[in-house]
This record gives sequence, C-alpha cells and structure tokens, in this order.
Amino acid sequence: MSRKIEILVLPGDGIGPEVMSQALRVLHKISDMADLSLVIYEDLIHGQAWDAYGTFCRDETVHQAKNVDAVLVGAVGGEKWGNLAPGGTPEEKDGLMRLRKELDVFAGIRPARSYSHLNEKTPYRPELLDEVDLIVLREMCGGVMFASPRGIESDSKGPKRGFDTAAYDVDEVKRHARFGFELARKRRGHLTSVDKANVMESGAFWREIVSEVSFEYPDVHFQNMYADNCSYQLAINPKQFDVILADNLFGDILSDQAAALSGSLGMLASASLTDQSNSPGIYEPVHGTAPDIAGKNIANPIGMILSLALMFEFGFSMQEISKKLHLAVEEVTRTGPLTPDLGGLGTTNEVTEAILRELERNF
Ligand code: NAD
Ligand code: IPM
Ligand code: MN
Repeated sequence: MSRKIEILVLPGDGIGPEVMSQALRVLHKISDMADLSLVIYEDLIHGQAWDAYGTFCRDETVHQAKNVDAVLVGAVGGEKWGNLAPGGTPEEKDGLMRLRKELDVFAGIRPARSYSHLNEKTPYRPELLDEVDLIVLREMCGGVMFASPRGIESDSKGPKRGFDTAAYDVDEVKRHARFGFELARKRRGHLTSVDKANVMESGAFWREIVSEVSFEYPDVHFQNMYADNCSYQLAINPKQFDVILADNLFGDILSDQAAALSGSLGMLASASLTDQSNSPGIYEPVHGTAPDIAGKNIANPIGMILSLALMFEFGFSMQEISKKLHLAVEEVTRTGPLTPDLGGLGTTNEVTEAILRELERNF
C-alpha cells in the first residue's frame, strides 16, 4: 500500500512562489516514482495573507500546519509589508515567525557544503573547500528575535529609542544543545557552540548551560567559540566545522555566510524541527524573497528542492529518496544548466527540468 503523506504548502512572497512551483514538480515526480499517496494543501502566508485577509498568518493556517506531516515554505517578506503591525509581537509582525513559534520548531538544521565542481564560483581558494560539510544548527523560537520587552519608545523623557531583549531560559538552551550533540554524534562527532559570552550576560549563560550539557556527551568533541571569531574561521578555515550550535540571531547570520561555501545563497536548504514526535517540521530554503530577481524566472530553485531532501530525511525517514535528490542536484550542478547566481545562463525552469531528468534516470 502506498504511504500517505500530507503536506501544507506555503509559497509566500517574491521568489517564494517561483521556487515552490519547481519543488512541487519535483515532489510530484518523486511521489509517482516512489508510489507515495501525496495530499497537498496550499495556503497563503505573510504578505500574500496580509493582502487577502489582513493578517500575516491565519489561525486556520496554524491549525492545518499542526495537522499535516510537513510544512513547506518558499520565502516571505518585502518592503510593501514592512511596518504594517507596528508595536506588534514578532508573531503578529511576521507570518513565518508565528508559524515557527506555534509549531515550536526550535532546531533549525541548515546544512552547508562545498561542491568541488562549483569551487570556482565561490570567493574561496579551492584548497580551503576540500570536502567542507557542516550544519549550522540555529535556535528558531527564542532569543533576541522573540524575547520581551522590545519596542520603540517615542514618548519617554530621554531620546527616542528602539530596544530588544536577548534572553534564553535554561530549558530553551538545554533542549537546543542536546539536539546539537545528538546531531553531532550521528555525524563526525564535533560540536562548536557560538556566543558572545565575553560581553553579553545571555551569552555567558548560553555558554554555561551548553558546557554543562556537553558532559552528557563525552564522545562528542566540544568547543566554545565567540561568534565573531566563528564568522572569521568560517571564512579562513571552514573545514574545521561539523555542527555549529548557534542562537537565533547568530545562526541566521552564520547560515547566510556558510552559503558562500557552495557558491550561492540560493543553494541552501533548511529543516526546522521540534523534539516532539508526530509534530511536523517546517522545510524552507535559507534565502529570502530576493526582490532584486523576483518575477524573472532566474531564481536558483536548488535550496527549495534540497529542502524536500531534508523533509524526506528528517521528516519521513526516507533516506533513499533524500540521497537520490542530493545526487540529482550534485549531477546537475556539475553538468549545468546553472542559474545566474552561479554564473550560468539557465532559468529556474531549466535547472528543475535537468533535476527531474536526473531523478528519472536514477530512480
Ligand atoms: P535575500 O535572501 O532575499 O537575498 C539576498 C541576495 O541573495 C540577493 O541578491 C538575492 O538575489 C540573492 N538570492 C537569494 N535567494 C536566491 C535564489 N534562490 N537564487 C538566486 N539568488 C538568490 O535577502 P534580503 O534581500 O536581505 O531580503 C529580502 C526579503 O526576504 C526581506 O523582506 C527579508 O525579510 C526576507 N527574508 C525572508 C526569509 C525567509 O522567508 N525565510 C529569509 C531571508 C530574508
Ligand atoms: C531566515 C530569515 C527569517 C529570519 C525572517 C524572514 C523571519 O532571515 O529564515 O533566515 O530572520 O529568521
Ligand atoms: Mn536569514
């Protein structure tokens, strides 16, 4: 009997719908070849949802997201929807932030690797990229992007000011750290935790708790590193990293930086997971809505397509399908076509079609 899989698809804004439509072609192809019984629900999020419903994320969308096997997101955001909910909570101001929080998908797996045949498309010397393969594990539901108080004060006696609160409680740090050590254990057994413990109380606390958790994992080689040094080390010696454990803000920044290792931000995928079994993950590319290239059919669809690979691996434990997707991407990035972000002349459609052909050949 074919396995039934229910997926909520949220294409989002800008290039979101462009890359999502390609991912759906790939998903349908896999479903046919692997005899899956796929049920797809589609809904609006963030800008599209605001325009249609006057809210960035409807309760119905959250309800449905909690009741499917996986949620796929393209990308959200744009200037048009920049400040429509002034003074609102992060969840009220951003549909994706609400969804992450509601699903409690705190563990943001953001893998970055080098592709030897793409090394020349990167700003790195090839010898620095030999077999780079790392994961930025970003905390997704807390820290300075969510904690309160936050706001812009215009009526205080002092000068007008904007402020946020960088804060994590012990359980938030512990569960994220444990997720990271477990992940490192299944890989090369190396975990680097990043913070600004030298100048931030929340950083010193993060370091204390992660270091405490590290004693539960004597088999994992563990080190603390200041986040600014980590950024530098990623630039000069990326091979040293296996799992980088980061809070919400540093993980956001370091994952974009790590994308340069493969040649383009358009290549990076993500899986945001919770530690509750039976609770769906959110799978989305690391990139944003790329307003500078939206509507031109030149967005790189690979980050979105590799998010499917993460969904099959982490969401459905279907490693074989995940591997086949990785192989297809590997081959197409070797032979082309490539989109302009990787120096090619290929379109979003053409890259996907080459991936579909490769999947068909190898399934
Ligand atoms: P961005 O990631 O959209 O773009 C940064 C640069 O990378 C741009 O030059 C863009 O053209 C390029 N790029 C990104 N994805 C690409 C792809 N698939 N193919 C080829 N090139 C690609 O970041 P930004 O410009 O800082 O933000 C634009 C909007 O996206 C903002 O509203 C921001 O809030 C939002 N954003 C959303 C997400 C998300 O939904 N997860 C992530 C990041 C940014
Ligand atoms: C990302 C983005 C998002 C974030 C925005 C769009 C909410 O930059 O997914 O990396 O900051 O988390
Ligand atoms: Mn980001």
